Amino acid sequence: VAKARYKAPRGTADVLPEGRQDGAGHAAPGRLFLVHTAESVLGNAGYGYFESPVFEDTALFHRGVGESTDIVQKEMFTFEDKGGRSLTLRPEGTAPVCRAYVEHGMHKRPQPVKLWYAGPFFRHERAQAGRYRQFSQIGAEALGSDDPAVDAETIVLLARLLERAEVPRVRLRLSSLGSQDTRQQYAHDLRSFLRRRYKLLPSSTRHVFETNPLRAFDHDDPATKAVMRGAPRLLRRLPAADRKHFADVRALLGEAGVKFTTDGSLVRGLDYYTRTVFEFEAANLGAQKGVAGGGRYDGLVEALGGPATPGVGWAAGVERILIASARLWASSRVSLFVVSPAHEFRPQAFRAATELWKHDWMAQLSDFSRPLRHQFRLAHRHDADWVLIVDEGLTIRNMRSGRQREFASIDEVAGYLRRRSRSLAA
Ligand code: HAM
Repeated sequence: VAKARYKAPRGTADVLPEGRQDGAGHAAPGRLFLVHTAESVLGNAGYGYFESPVFEDTALFHRGVGESTDIVQKEMFTFEDKGGRSLTLRPEGTAPVCRAYVEHGMHKRPQPVKLWYAGPFFRHERAQAGRYRQFSQIGAEALGSDDPAVDAETIVLLARLLERAEVPRVRLRLSSLGSQDTRQQYAHDLRSFLRRRYKLLPSSTRHVFETNPLRAFDHDDPATKAVMRGAPRLLRRLPAADRKHFADVRALLGEAGVKFTTDGSLVRGLDYYTRTVFEFEAANLGAQKGVAGGGRYDGLVEALGGPATPGVGWAAGVERILIASARLWASSRVSLFVVSPAHEFRPQAFRAATELWKHDWMAQLSDFSRPLRHQFRLAHRHDADWVLIVDEGLTIRNMRSGRQREFASIDEVAGYLRRRSRSLAA
């Protein structure tokens, strides 16, 4: 066996039609299903499809995602272009959406502006199962309203997407961070609380907690966990307006039948969040159990130079959904293989296939340069349901039963296939 000299870079993977042996979320059918499902679930709720470039000015993420985050501190793929500008492969999609909102004057459109996106994102993380350096997200953002109904709407839509993907045993954790002022005051108090206990904490965590003390809730070592059990909780200190907003979001989720756990220790890895934050976890995923996460970011558009504009949204990890899902995706196409016994019938056989494509029917061309015997073997290997034999006439062989039937025209063939596939589907 030839050894591959070149391999996909660490933390990246090819997407193959039939999937890869390690089943790590890179099989084409599941990925296509998720994008089609997102288009239907989100499109039905009025979300329009959006794309942004795969790279942006580095400054956008410094300002948007936040200087103290792991993403900005150590995970960005940053490079200089030939003009000496610093560019970064997008690590996430919310800052680009807000940049586009400002750039295209979307505040003049009817509010809220609702967008969804799907595509590759890049973070230089330690690669492991469920964690890649290039991964795929499906995301949704609603900009221009601070109504709690919009928070609830986005969460319900995400829950529907995960249901359709048949992700089992998902848990929704929900919290509120209050307004930016509340959060800043709280971070200050939490830092003082931690400083008084630094002797009890691993020394390596200190500088992290100095820059962003909320991250202490996310640390798994037993000492930090023990200290954090006694830490002040932001949820208990929310001002009345934020408390009301959070209560409304929870009531609406109850209305929609979406189950959740209120969890004051929920912290997200990005700095822009205000008020509602949430995360969906799949119990069967192990260490990388976050399948999707999001929240409100009422100050982000303004921070990027736009008018004060509230926003809320989420992103779901495509690979993690597929790893967690109980569903097996297979290509649902009924397959037809076109073969031809002799060289002189090649043009007819070729034309037969192009006619079937016009009828929007699946038809796969065999390798006409090989003997008929070989062409039939190929049909077997492709697991074809039917073989269309093109010579002087048109014959269809049902590969399951072995029965054959002749036809006078391609229109007749297409009609027959349509009737048969309907009865097969029933
Ligand atoms: P995030 O929590 O950083 O949020 O990422 C969202 C999801 O992307 C995660 O729950 C996970 O499933 C997936 N993900 C993240 N990093 C990786 C990785 N290295 N490998 C595989 N999957 C990964 C955001 O990105 C925010 N922009 C979400 C948001 C939208 N908030 C408001 N609007």
